[in-house]
Amino acid sequence: MENEKSKIIIFGGTGYIGNHLAKASLLLGHPTFVYARPITPRTTSSKVELHKELQSMGATFVLGELEEHEKIVSALREVNIVISALAYPQVLGQLKIIDAIKVAGNIKRFLPSEFGSEEDRITPLPPFEAFLEKKRKIRRVVEAAGIPYTFVSANCCASYFVNYLLHPHEKADDNIVVYGSGEAKAVLNYEVDIATYTIKVATDPRTCNRIVIYRPPENILSQLELISLWERKTGRCFNRIHVLEEEIVKLSETIPPPNDIPVSILHSVFIKGQTVFELREDDMEASRLYPDYEYTTVDQLLDIFLVHPPKPAAAAFG
Ligand SMILES: NC(=O)c1ccc[n+]([C@@H]2O[C@H](COP(=O)([O-])OP(=O)(O)OC[C@H]3O[C@@H](n4cnc5c(N)ncnc54)[C@H](OP(=O)(O)O)[C@@H]3O)[C@@H](O)[C@H]2O)c1
Repeated sequence: MENEKSKIIIFGGTGYIGNHLAKASLLLGHPTFVYARPITPRTTSSKVELHKELQSMGATFVLGELEEHEKIVSALREVNIVISALAYPQVLGQLKIIDAIKVAGNIKRFLPSEFGSEEDRITPLPPFEAFLEKKRKIRRVVEAAGIPYTFVSANCCASYFVNYLLHPHEKADDNIVVYGSGEAKAVLNYEVDIATYTIKVATDPRTCNRIVIYRPPENILSQLELISLWERKTGRCFNRIHVLEEEIVKLSETIPPPNDIPVSILHSVFIKGQTVFELREDDMEASRLYPDYEYTTVDQLLDIFLVHPPKPAAAAFG
């Protein structure tokens, strides 16, 4: 499959994770299609620029809504692989993509919009649990339909969370909030690597009907380790303001939705940690699958932040 360069369509290819996926697909030489909503007078100028940038890199845009079944079926008939990076509110909207995949009948692999914690192996606080339940539902529908799949557990988007935790753009603020003890281990993967691994797993025969977890050893670290690393690089000294676990749990119970979701994600990722389950011998882990790919370590990412800090993302995590 890899020799003849699979054709890939990306839903949500103009989103936060999706634009990295589209670029990685193009850079790896795949004919790349982006199914995106049409531009309207309300579309932001940065979104219009992104459409142009992806087109200039070679992406073919198919403009349409998720409700346009026939249009989606026709688009799917042009490709072999479907990747969805739709936003969280559209997770169940992916049922429409699944319906179209069944009708098109030619799709060799589907990767639904996941890109976070391994939802079948954790039980977080209720708001995050309800969030994951929708993603689990999509997994079960895909499996039941017999659609060849790869489920991606990418853990944390590193730039996003470095911006969130360390707020490197705010040079005058020496306070950093630490969730719980700060000792639980999270996994922070650079968005560009998440995208590259995802295109690799989407086209890899070994990963058909498997879950792939992105847990490269150098990117497993605690909040306290992250802060110390940043102190060494910047020469600054930060006050660590600890928020107790009980306070986060209480906040997740009292803050109105949808803000209860990010609070319970913080609890799951940084208080419980993302290594609460051990990798088994038969688990697929991205850096083990592709040992020759030189992923960006958190240490290297912080060097990028020192020189050209990536802009904070507008999207809320989750
Ligand atoms: N692990 C992590 O750290 C992390 C962080 C963030 C997200 N995630 C996960 O990654 C996935 C993608 O999230 P994201 O933040 O990249 O999403 P996003 O940027 O908010 O949006 C993704 C795409 O969804 C499209 N979309 C939004 N509303 C739509 C609608 N009504 N109809 C059709 N398309 C619509 C957007 O189209 P437009 O471009 O036209 O607006 C965009 O292309 C989600 O599963 C999320 O849970 C994980």
